[in-house]
Amino acid sequence: MHVERIVVIDDEAATRRLMEQTLKKQGYEVLLASNGDEGLRIVMEESPDVTLLDIQLPDTNGIELLQKIRELNSDTVVIMATATDDLKVAVKAMKLGAYDYINKPFHIDDLILTVNKAMDTARLRREVVSLKEERNRNAGIEEIIGVSSHIQGILSMIKKISESEATTILIQGETGTGKELIAKALHYESSRRDRPFMGINCSAVPENLLESELMGHEKGAFTDAKSLRKGLFETADGGTVFLDEIGDMPLQMQTKLLRILGERSFRRVGGTKDINVDLTVISATNKDLSKGVEDGIFRKDLYYRLQVIPIYIKPLRERRDDILPLTKHFINYFNKKFRKCVKSISPETEKLLLEYAWPGNVRELRNVIERVILLGDGDVLTTEPLPAEMTHKGSEGNGMTSYNQTKAAKKLGIGVDALRYRMKKYGFL
Ligand SMILES: Nc1ncnc2c1ncn2[C@@H]1O[C@H](COP(=O)(O)OP(=O)(O)OP(=O)(O)O)[C@@H](O)[C@H]1O
Ligand SMILES: [Mg+2]
Repeated sequence: MHVERIVVIDDEAATRRLMEQTLKKQGYEVLLASNGDEGLRIVMEESPDVTLLDIQLPDTNGIELLQKIRELNSDTVVIMATATDDLKVAVKAMKLGAYDYINKPFHIDDLILTVNKAMDTARLRREVVSLKEERNRNAGIEEIIGVSSHIQGILSMIKKISESEATTILIQGETGTGKELIAKALHYESSRRDRPFMGINCSAVPENLLESELMGHEKGAFTDAKSLRKGLFETADGGTVFLDEIGDMPLQMQTKLLRILGERSFRRVGGTKDINVDLTVISATNKDLSKGVEDGIFRKDLYYRLQVIPIYIKPLRERRDDILPLTKHFINYFNKKFRKCVKSISPETEKLLLEYAWPGNVRELRNVIERVILLGDGDVLTTEPLPAEMTHKGSEGNGMTSYNQTKAAKKLGIGVDALRYRMKKYGFL
């Protein structure tokens, strides 16, 4: 538990005592200092959430001390106490980063109200810091598991890219190979980590809305544009925009994107002013973009523009070394989540995991492990709770064809899940 701590820096013993008594009753820990030197030392050593700082001190003045506290990069929320009604001093203190001020002599209720408010701010700041830390922990390069030389190569590439000022990256790979995971790692490893990472799925946004989603719109630009709205490019300024499923971007928007990528500037829909942005643009697709170019649905010039730095992630079946490390990683994760204690994998299960084709790649593996941990008992992962497509290889025994399900689904132009749904429905499974 975090103890909420306040330091009172004041040269009058009576004021210190009154503040101490009042604030202790509110449940805060209170530290006292009678001069600037002592106050500064306590701020640095004890990291109080809130500092109550008198403007007039024997060895320094409060404004100078405030400046020192800010230079030392302390997070403490400072409330100034002024004996005069001099608004100018208070305004100056606020400009220098004080949070609020109270006039002396003060009402106890005022003191409590001001300190509680400052403590709320301190609490929020702490929360933001810890959320950011947690997010960085969950989105960094260490989340990417894999021992294959392929994944190791990608990891070292991520490090190199994040140290550079590279700003246009294209990630390609089948569904579930980790494109989004890698896009986030690129952002959170880079110096832009404290700026926004904003993603948009280009295939999920209706064509007529995509432009205003990306570039924003001025008030009245179209019937529904009741007020000015910033788009993704503007809100992510300084950070990273992740354009997912770029292969599905309509041609007209591709043309606009091409210009934005070149100039790093754009106009809101209905706008006349150029807006400059500093952005890293990471695009991803599970489609073959070169084929899209051949078929005339993807602009060739955009294709080249996007892949200043191309990253290709191989399907899991082409880097089978990663299967077991990933399996162990997901076992640990789901053990914790579901309070289970699977410790090992039976040799049979291991063989199945290693031989299966994984059409849904790492996502499928993750889902399978989630299911078996949730449904299974005991501390060994056995074949029993594995899904049927893994234990009956392909479509053997279900009389469909000599194709396995992935091939059959492809032939029918539907997803494997849809195929399995239909097979179940018609009694093949
Ligand atoms: N190398 C990896 N290490 C750990 N987890 C991984 C790895 N690759 C993928 N995953 C996990 O697999 C799941 C799918 O990954 P992700 O969403 O990044 O795939 P994707 O390539 O964007 O897929 P899609 O094309 O379907 O959008 C996520 O839960 C992700 O955390
Ligand atoms: Mg994705």
